[in-house]
Amino acid sequence: MLSEQNIKKLDDLKKFYPTKQALVLPVLWMIQEEQGHISEDAMRYVGELLDVPFGHVLGVVTFYTMFHDKPHGKHHIEVCTNVSCMLRGSAKIVEHLEKRLGIKLGETSKDMKWTLSEVECMGSCGTAPMIAVGEEYYENLTTEQVDELLANLERT
Ligand code: FES
Repeated sequence: MLSEQNIKKLDDLKKFYPTKQALVLPVLWMIQEEQGHISEDAMRYVGELLDVPFGHVLGVVTFYTMFHDKPHGKHHIEVCTNVSCMLRGSAKIVEHLEKRLGIKLGETSKDMKWTLSEVECMGSCGTAPMIAVGEEYYENLTTEQVDELLANLERT
């Protein structure tokens, strides 16, 4: 299931990790980068590849919000709703995004263009409210800035 290139990368990584179990996170990243999400079959594959029980792999995938067990839209918008963001208006940002995208938190649009997720603190409390799209953070957000961002993402 891993590409030949990633199998080779895994062989190299084995030299630096004390146990096969410690390789679960990097292998899950590889799978997600290759396939866009981590299916149940992929979780079973990772378990067999690293001699780790399926339940452990499933636990890792479902614990970390950065892993996706279902296909996601082209643009994955993650909205922090933790304390600082909540106090500085994340509910308004969520409401605005849901209205603009026509989907609720946790959903993906039918055209697979957007996924909207609620996440815990992303370490950007001083610039709340914030959202992340991929590896980019958008901070001190207003609904007008959200509109600008969506327009920019529409063009990509
Ligand atoms: S509470 Fe939102 S980034 Fe910390």
